[in-house]
Amino acid sequence: MKAGGRDVSRIMVTGGAGFIGSNFIRIVHERFPEIELLNYDKLTYAGNLENLEGVRGRYSFVQGDIQDPQLVGEAIAGADVVVNFAAETHVDRSIHDPGDFILTDVYGVFVLLEAMKRSARARLFVHVSTDEVYGSIARGFFSEESPLNPSSPYSASKVGGDRLAFSYFKTYGLPVVIARPANNYGPYQYPEKLIPFFVTRALQDQPLPLYGDGGNRRDWLHVEDTVSGILTLIEKGEPGQAYNLGAGQERSNLEVTHAILSLLGKPESLVQRVVDRKGHDFRYALDSAKMRALGWEPRIDFATGLRRTVAWYREHEDWWRKLIAKKAYMNHLQKNYE
Ligand code: NAD
Ligand code: TYD
Repeated sequence: MKAGGRDVSRIMVTGGAGFIGSNFIRIVHERFPEIELLNYDKLTYAGNLENLEGVRGRYSFVQGDIQDPQLVGEAIAGADVVVNFAAETHVDRSIHDPGDFILTDVYGVFVLLEAMKRSARARLFVHVSTDEVYGSIARGFFSEESPLNPSSPYSASKVGGDRLAFSYFKTYGLPVVIARPANNYGPYQYPEKLIPFFVTRALQDQPLPLYGDGGNRRDWLHVEDTVSGILTLIEKGEPGQAYNLGAGQERSNLEVTHAILSLLGKPESLVQRVVDRKGHDFRYALDSAKMRALGWEPRIDFATGLRRTVAWYREHEDWWRKLIAKKAYMNHLQKNYE
């Protein structure tokens, strides 16, 4: 693999024990066995080394916080490319406890960028932002030029990290590329986000707390398509640019819920209408023409991706049962749904 015209031999992945980061590591490890991968992760409630079981060979792990300049400086030293997935990521948690979002998603990005600035070797910093930076759109699609208008402490902190990354390109000439993916789903997603939460609840015959009238809409991108998008950006992304990664597979939450119940053969009576999320964005939708111009396109259609994902959770009950037995999960349920 090449970045900036030169061969990539070592990638530092921050947040590699989380959902998208671990899928990225698995796929890169398989497709590019010659590349050395360094996973730098704090292991918050969302970090889980079991996501990486079986990954051996040119792979190492350092437990560390992206807010730690010393450790980040040491870890970045040998890297050609840094891909920053590390973040606090759940909107509902950001509503109850925003502090860690500001620290990790803004200050942590600053620490990484400073280390990148001092690194003699690194030639590309891929910052993983989100479609949520644009806020909600009733009709049409956001392009990369659309104004940023975040609604939640999560998305506002992601705007902070996104624009800080851009500022290091503009001010210091750092080779920064920004990815803004849509809602991801797939294997190894922590069971607090809509799809894995509802699948694991339904498997236990527990109620599915649907916010408001279930009419809010999201564009669902399979995690493997996100990974292929990030690989495209490593090879062809232009420094200083942001890129939307949309799937063009928009569904209402109610449609997603019905699809899950039908795949599992569970009754509609499990759906429980609950009070709406505060500041709930109605709809996210991206124009991904800029990514498509680089040759990327999402390949997994939602029906197939959801079927595979539901099957994965059914077959990996041990994986998610361990997580839902932990305090971090139970406290979240209590705070958010009771
Ligand atoms: P996740 O919550 O599953 O994983 C986050 C990982 O980051 C965990 O392994 C955690 O331990 C680690 N982490 C958190 N704080 C850290 C810190 N201070 N230092 C080091 N590591 C830390 O997240 P995800 O769903 O895999 O998302 C990855 C990235 O993609 C995030 O930046 C997120 O904002 C972005 N994103 C996610 C989605 C989605 O639908 N999941 C969509 C668009 C963008
Ligand atoms: P989520 O997976 O938290 O992602 P996002 O970052 O897009 O908010 O939620 C996806 C959608 O599902 C969002 O509109 C909120 C809704 N939702 C529920 O209705 N109930 C729930 O328990 C959760 C977690 C989400």
